[in-house]
Amino acid sequence: MVSVGPSLLLTSSVDITPMMTVLDGVLMELQDCALPLLKDVIATDKEEVAFKDLDVAVLVGSMPRREGMERKDLLKANVKIFKSQGAALDKYAKKSVKVIVVGNPANTNCLTASKSAPSIPKENFSCLTRLDHNRAKSQIALKLGVTADDVKNVIIWGNHSSTQYPDVNHAKVKLHGKEVGVYEALKDDSWLKGDFITTVQQRGAAVIKARKLSSAMSAAKAIADHIRNIWFGTPEGEFVSMGVISDGNSYGIPDDLLYSFPVVIKNKTWKFVEGLPINDFSREKMDLTAKELAEEKETAFEFLSSA
Ligand code: LMR
Repeated sequence: MVSVGPSLLLTSSVDITPMMTVLDGVLMELQDCALPLLKDVIATDKEEVAFKDLDVAVLVGSMPRREGMERKDLLKANVKIFKSQGAALDKYAKKSVKVIVVGNPANTNCLTASKSAPSIPKENFSCLTRLDHNRAKSQIALKLGVTADDVKNVIIWGNHSSTQYPDVNHAKVKLHGKEVGVYEALKDDSWLKGDFITTVQQRGAAVIKARKLSSAMSAAKAIADHIRNIWFGTPEGEFVSMGVISDGNSYGIPDDLLYSFPVVIKNKTWKFVEGLPINDFSREKMDLTAKELAEEKETAFEFLSSA
């Protein structure tokens, strides 16, 4: 949770009471970073302290899926957490607060928080798909022997889950000082339509399998990229992926789903990138991930009305 002034940062970290000693460790690490703009850190288990007058809230904590747990059980536990955090934001944070949800299932948790904070504009809520976006950029860069910075305008459509659709039909790569389309540069359609997509979709699970822990460094970098773009905008000619509320008019995605789209950001306000042509291959994949989100939403809302 962060409060941002013109040149300084006040950050508060909230957790449940049994985790307070862990939070003390986070506090020490934040102090030890000697961050040039960091003025103070408050570690607390009180929502009224943590959420007070926030400019930016990063909701990282959620109930992780344990072995044998049904998706429904996971959603139920998380609806409770994000309903309470949404209500606390509604009560204590600034109405201009930007809320970024990271804890999984991030899209539906973000929708739950937004529905539970009716006095905060729904456009102020977004969930993290920048990690998937960065993964897609890196896979292309590795294949072409360039750096990730040379790749732009990849898109993650949909859910931050294995149904997400990483789309490079509109992506460009800088090769020998010239910008070319990724399909043209790679000349390997079968990889782009096959292993590339599954690698990005399954990357979170692959990291967990290798580390026995969820992604940490890459997730932190993606959160920093996401917030930097919300605060300072996206570079000219570039778009990024973010889970945001759908309006029913963009890319045939039903209204009121927290779906990852390509966006541009200016003056702390995001806009859909409009008018990108969508081929049949993409259409099918975009609809599939929308269907999963609609199902998650339905289940979450059942719990939301009874929680
Ligand atoms: C990731 O994409 O690395 C994580 O969201 C995976 C997870 O389930 O924690």
